[in-house]
Amino acid sequence: MPVVYIENVARYVGQEVTIRGWLRNHRSSGKIQFLVVRDGTGDLQAVVSKGTVGEEQFAQSARLTQESSLVMTGMLRADARAQGGYELEVTRIEPVQIAEPFPIQPKEHGVGFLMDHRHLWLRSSRQHAILRIRHEIIRACRNFFDAQGFVLVDAPIFTPNACEGTTTLFQTDYFDEKAYLTQSGQLYSEATAAAFGKVYCFGPTFRAEKSKTRRHLMEFWMVEPEVAFAELPDVMDLAEAFLRFIVGRVLEARRAELAALERDTARLERVVAPFPRITYDEAVSLLQKRGNPIQPGDDFGGDEETMLSNEFDRPVIVHRYPRAIKAFYMQNDPARPDLALCMDVLAPEGYGEIIGGGQRIHEYDKLMARIQEHKLPEEAFRWYLDLRRYGSVPHAGFGMGIERVVAWICGLDHVRETIPFPRMLYKLYP
Ligand code: 4AD
Ligand code: MG
Repeated sequence: MPVVYIENVARYVGQEVTIRGWLRNHRSSGKIQFLVVRDGTGDLQAVVSKGTVGEEQFAQSARLTQESSLVMTGMLRADARAQGGYELEVTRIEPVQIAEPFPIQPKEHGVGFLMDHRHLWLRSSRQHAILRIRHEIIRACRNFFDAQGFVLVDAPIFTPNACEGTTTLFQTDYFDEKAYLTQSGQLYSEATAAAFGKVYCFGPTFRAEKSKTRRHLMEFWMVEPEVAFAELPDVMDLAEAFLRFIVGRVLEARRAELAALERDTARLERVVAPFPRITYDEAVSLLQKRGNPIQPGDDFGGDEETMLSNEFDRPVIVHRYPRAIKAFYMQNDPARPDLALCMDVLAPEGYGEIIGGGQRIHEYDKLMARIQEHKLPEEAFRWYLDLRRYGSVPHAGFGMGIERVVAWICGLDHVRETIPFPRMLYKLYP
């Protein structure tokens, strides 16, 4: 008797198979019970009739509660009326464990309650769809860079360096030293790009963001390509091709999940090149025209990002922000030294920033001056400065936050559902 996964049942119509899973739903009408069983790959309707399984098995099946685990065997039939189009006519059913009353009921629960039960909430069909799409996005990221000859070289999690400012560092003890959890693998990718030419790193990153917004997590995953000899326009092109590839892949491979989330896929179909490219100055004028109080030199907050991203039907690349509001390592524009050769990519539909990156300073003296200006500890950056002493070249890259991209592609209103176990402000459980 083959043991099969529900996603493969189409191949077994007319055969007797065994399915192992959990009970999602149970309906009974006298001599017949209808079960919906999930096994992680899909849902399958099963019919248990007293006539077929006998009195004892029928009674045992009736005792199965929501989320009880079970093994069942039966004949697979195509049935247009059944959810998914197939039905199992059960000949034998055995509980593995009868579940206690499951805390999450089909009724509506508050977000706080669901977050406290995240370990169980993951079983819902909605969370299932989101995390499958997350997986597809991650796979697409790897496929994209691998196919273009980038080498995956990961960065460490413990680091002595602040990459993205000193205010959001998580500090920890590292024997007798202080260490931080990494905010970005970029500085290390700059070293590996000089070794391998084109690299990417892909790992968890950490920021002690004292802000409670729909876009911020304390722990999130970032994919960061870095390319030797590349300049700002090169990484704008790269980001554009990358995002198009990811969205295309999800549209191709995860239609069912997008439908389960009721995502308007017409909006995603519009993600084609070219993406609009505007300067920071143009973005500020646009915001002011829409009545936003922003002044030249101000950084964008959540409201500004939302407003800008609503202006376009596809991702927009905003480039050349004032140097003063950006990270220490950014190269400046030779034509306007007060501007950084950087870019942010904002996703449409109000989602805002999903990518940040640009061109790095490759000159030793300039970088040293910037490290001093930002009052960063020189000693911890000695290795980073070394990269400017031994065959330094212009180079550029970017980082894309996976959770923000998942939120956008799935059409979610908060990043908390985009990662299996979100770490949020003052919230560490489960
Ligand atoms: O713009 P950021 O801070 O850029 C960097 O870290 C660069 N060092 C990356 C590089 O050039 N290699 O962060 C990059 C992206 C953001 O655009 C956003 O998608 C995501 O990381 N991100 C967050 N996502 C969730 N929660 C947070 N607290 C995030 N902070 C940044
Ligand atoms: Mg940024």
